Amino acid sequence: MGRFPSGDEPRRPGRDVDRATPARRHVDPAAVARRLGAAVQWPGAGALRDRSWRLIARTGDFDAWLIAWPGGATAELHDHGSSRGALHVISGSLVETIPWRDDDGSVTLARRDVQPGVTLAFGGGHVHDVRNESAEHALSLHVYSPPLTSMTYYDRSGDRLIPRPDRWDLSREAPYPSARSVLRPAAP
Ligand SMILES: [Fe+2]
Repeated sequence: MGRFPSGDEPRRPGRDVDRATPARRHVDPAAVARRLGAAVQWPGAGALRDRSWRLIARTGDFDAWLIAWPGGATAELHDHGSSRGALHVISGSLVETIPWRDDDGSVTLARRDVQPGVTLAFGGGHVHDVRNESAEHALSLHVYSPPLTSMTYYDRSGDRLIPRPDRWDLSREAPYPSARSVLRPAAP
């Protein structure tokens, strides 16, 4: 019986909260992703020729990103630091691949297709790649809690995942635009 190298295991709620700092509220990234996913759009995303993203919300408890995927776009193998997260497909379809370590130590890539309206949840330390293997454009919403601060990318070498030295961190991102540019107007 194999296992995923990391992530997906349920985690105990935080303990021993420092009384001097406000307690974090428990946020379910999948629930946030489902609700926000039904309320956002990205006009013009279908014309983008490269994988593109927008930070649409960031609070002390979670952040949310829209990602536009032209056909063939890939994220490459990465983690999300210690953040838990969820991926919700709004339109098009995506494929998640996960490095799976077997009992003999060998690593293969497990894959699952993600169709519109489907939400995948994952734990801290989860490593995956996400790609759009179709010819159609896809749009997805990604929610992380606590908010994403770093991501490490990996190269696979045989049965090893080798972290790349250049981690992504939030300082690389431009300040995010008003969410009004992506929120659908309320129905009259
Ligand atoms: Fe990811």
